[in-house]
Amino acid sequence: MVQDDILKVLVTEEEIEQRCVELAEQIEADYQKEGTVPVVVGLLKGSVPFMAELIKRFKFPCEIDFMKVSSYDGTESIGDVRIDLDMQISAKERPILLVEDIVDTGRTLVEVKKMFKNKGATDVKIVSLLDKPDRREFEIEADYVGFTVPNEFVVGYGLDYNQKYRNLPFIGVLKPEIYE
Ligand code: IMP
Repeated sequence: MVQDDILKVLVTEEEIEQRCVELAEQIEADYQKEGTVPVVVGLLKGSVPFMAELIKRFKFPCEIDFMKVSSYDGTESIGDVRIDLDMQISAKERPILLVEDIVDTGRTLVEVKKMFKNKGATDVKIVSLLDKPDRREFEIEADYVGFTVPNEFVVGYGLDYNQKYRNLPFIGVLKPEIYE
């Protein structure tokens, strides 16, 4: 069982669900204040469980889309961000709410945010399930963060190690022998 590979649980399923209720309320209130409705864009594949949990709370008529960019292999960030799959909905003159699993070095979001500005988006906000501020190399912060985590490699709730563990319903740290 994949559960057996986990050293410790950092964030439980209940905590994530509760936090998604709070985040959705806050996000909805902010857009309402601005009088805009964003296109909600998830970055594949890590954002999928979080995005599903979040969007079911939104009361505004939300359009969703996905993009796949890659800059990550194994446990270290590598190279530049590449677009593997682009979104279908036009971002031109639309506010964008980007949904991400984790802000680590920040490289991905710096590049993706720039790309949305080039596509003519009127505004780009970021909601990330996790934030790992100790690892930051690029100047960027998510507008909304679920949980701040320490500098450990985490898996679950969309986050993977070599494409596995995304299905775990919690955020956990892998046993060291899994890397070795
Ligand atoms: P950044 O561009 O360095 O911020 O990397 C962001 C991406 O790296 C995330 O979308 C994740 O897919 C991946 N990533 C960063 N830290 C972790 C981690 O602890 N576990 C799993 N994936 C991670």
